[in-house]
Amino acid sequence: MKFRKAAEQLANIPHISRHSALILYDFLIAQRPADCIELGFAHGAGSGYIAAALDELGAGHLTCVDLETSRDFTPTIEHTLDSLGLAARVSIHREINSYNWFLKKKIEEQTTEGVCTPCYDFVFIDGSKNWTIDGMAFFLADKLLRPGGWILFDDYDWRYADAQAKGKTATDGISIRELSADQIEQPNVAAIFDLLVVGHPDYANFKVQDKSWAWAQKTGRTSADKRLVQHERKSALKSKLKRWTGVGH
Ligand SMILES: C[S@@+](CC[C@H](N)C(=O)[O-])C[C@H]1O[C@@H](n2cnc3c(N)ncnc32)[C@H](O)[C@@H]1O
Repeated sequence: MKFRKAAEQLANIPHISRHSALILYDFLIAQRPADCIELGFAHGAGSGYIAAALDELGAGHLTCVDLETSRDFTPTIEHTLDSLGLAARVSIHREINSYNWFLKKKIEEQTTEGVCTPCYDFVFIDGSKNWTIDGMAFFLADKLLRPGGWILFDDYDWRYADAQAKGKTATDGISIRELSADQIEQPNVAAIFDLLVVGHPDYANFKVQDKSWAWAQKTGRTSADKRLVQHERKSALKSKLKRWTGVGH
């Protein structure tokens, strides 16, 4: 399915902007991942764009995981994917506590005689934005990510302090007042990315786009000089130009 067609149908469904969706869609078309996993699907807007790109490629599958509570969302992911006609490209899973328990079961399934065989080419972490939960999700996902595969975090710059300023006392089950002042102030995803992902010897090609999306590729052992992070703001302009000119879509 072309980006434009997916964007028309997904325009009013939170939580992904057309701008970010285009970056994601173009990435998938270029990288051709066979097996993708999205941790945190909400209403299925991001899942819809991923499924549209896989459909356009004519191959690939998306596994996506959220909490049981997402059954009550309007619309549900099932509704979103059905209306796109792309439900067959996606397996939907819900967990009581966390996608980390799903990843535990997947690692178990993939492990023979102590060796875990990776099974994903692209991991999109877009859920809790919490150091403990998503820091753990990174290490679990790493066991399942094939060499050459990519990991993407949303919300690099998101802070509990900003949620608090909007009157929230809890987000995704985390009570903000139970966190320390510096954890509330610091973007937790940035800490995960900068300290755990960039600091991981198997990762390289780090890019942070628009202070929001953080990308890394599992390249195998990389030397210290490859640990540079590219911070990019121009993606906004590039994406707008593509939209205005309709290039590629
Ligand atoms: C920002 S939304 C995801 C948006 C979606 N990826 C998109 O692009 O449209 C975050 C979702 O993560 C889910 N979530 C948060 N913490 C989670 C956890 N520990 N395990 C599973 N899902 C979680 C929430 O229920 C919510 O639906």
